[in-house]
Amino acid sequence: MSQVHVLDHPLIQHKVTFIRDKNTGTKEFRELVDEVATLMAYEITRDMPLEDTTIETPVATCQSRVISGKKVGLIPILRAGLGMVDGILKLIPAAKVGHVGLYRDPETLKPVEYYVKLPSDITERDLIVIDPMLATGGSASAAITALKNRGAKNLKLMCLIAAPEGIKLVQEEHPDVDIYVAAVDQYLNDHGYIVPGLGDAGDRLFGTK
Ligand code: URA
Repeated sequence: MSQVHVLDHPLIQHKVTFIRDKNTGTKEFRELVDEVATLMAYEITRDMPLEDTTIETPVATCQSRVISGKKVGLIPILRAGLGMVDGILKLIPAAKVGHVGLYRDPETLKPVEYYVKLPSDITERDLIVIDPMLATGGSASAAITALKNRGAKNLKLMCLIAAPEGIKLVQEEHPDVDIYVAAVDQYLNDHGYIVPGLGDAGDRLFGTK
């Protein structure tokens, strides 16, 4: 069974409060999501392997450690996932970025891929799938399946806010994928919104509606 990591750092929790607030406008919402993404990236990379190296300081020879060449790929799910990419790239600037776009088939209600563009070497990369809202889990799970079908092996899912329903689905369908969230909320309402949530993440990020 995969693990759910609730990133409860005070800075993350503080900023998420203002992200949730309906009176927070587009500019501030965007900036806050960007900042929280950076803070979450700091936590999510805790398990990155290190290796020893030898360097010369101005004073002496010194054994020190560097990240051991592990390559990272960021995979935002379109469109709201885009809002977290730059914040993560601040800490992992060499990461490559792939994109997955999905829509819900109105008849089957199943997610259908409409756009998938990935780094050529995803099989060798540690991939972070990004979607601010883990609601039903349908899109996240389908995106992860799309990546696995193309050879991805090492995946994490990063969301701002999750509903228990979404966590359950992803854990059932992808028990190998750990989930990193800033908050787990109460439930999904009849319109598919997370309660209390933050509303529509894409609309609030891009100022649409
Ligand atoms: N997507 C959103 O943007 N918000 C929700 O509450 C659920 C899905």
